[in-house]
Amino acid sequence: MADAESLKREAGIAACKYVKNGMKLGLGTGSTVKYTIIEIGRMVDEEGLEITGVPTSEATRVLAESVNIPLVEISQVESLDLTIDGADEFDGDFSLIKGGGGALTREKIVANLSKSMIVVADESKKVDVLGGFKLPIEADPLHSDSVIEEINGFCPGEVRIRASGQKNSSGNQPYITDNGGYIIDCEFGPSITNPTDLEKTISDINGVVEVGLFVGICDAVILASSSGVEILVNPDGRLN
Ligand code: 5RP
Repeated sequence: MADAESLKREAGIAACKYVKNGMKLGLGTGSTVKYTIIEIGRMVDEEGLEITGVPTSEATRVLAESVNIPLVEISQVESLDLTIDGADEFDGDFSLIKGGGGALTREKIVANLSKSMIVVADESKKVDVLGGFKLPIEADPLHSDSVIEEINGFCPGEVRIRASGQKNSSGNQPYITDNGGYIIDCEFGPSITNPTDLEKTISDINGVVEVGLFVGICDAVILASSSGVEILVNPDGRLN
């Protein structure tokens, strides 16, 4: 049976067949799309592929630069041909939870600018109902307490600020996003049957920067499992 890392690699590389000369590409963030980015770098170096990338995080910028992918800023593009990104969960309607890596805000901006979005994932990301993975929300640090209070009013589980994992004398420090925000992880459990409504409810809270629910954005999932790589095309999507 294939190990998780091999599945990520297979999914990440399989997505590259959608990458064509001249494209402007959104480059996602995470340990699966990392393999896409490395493979695109190889295609640039060895096959003369000409593309321009827009990174969704500083980590992705560093990786893409290290493999010689030409980059521009989000602010320099009006639209993108394709975004390839990972996901923490996807359901049968191609709705996603994203933000495990804390990059959800730029990931959503870039995906929304794109003519299509492909998710690369291993089989652990496929769920019947979203919410087993804690839903990440980016919030303005000055409003994080009031955001948590409001979400506690309807989230059945724990709602807490993500820690950086770096301990200093004053204890765990909050994780800070590339935009200077906090991430609030919300334990809904696998109960998110209406991600559209939940996304709107949370987005309307004062101090919320972005919600890690991506609804109506994903056109296909490239899914690697122990039985091989499968391309799941969203029947309502733009690649159909
Ligand atoms: C980062 C994300 C990632 O795409 C998501 O966390 C999946 O990452 P990985 O491929 O490492 O499991 O949303 O903000």
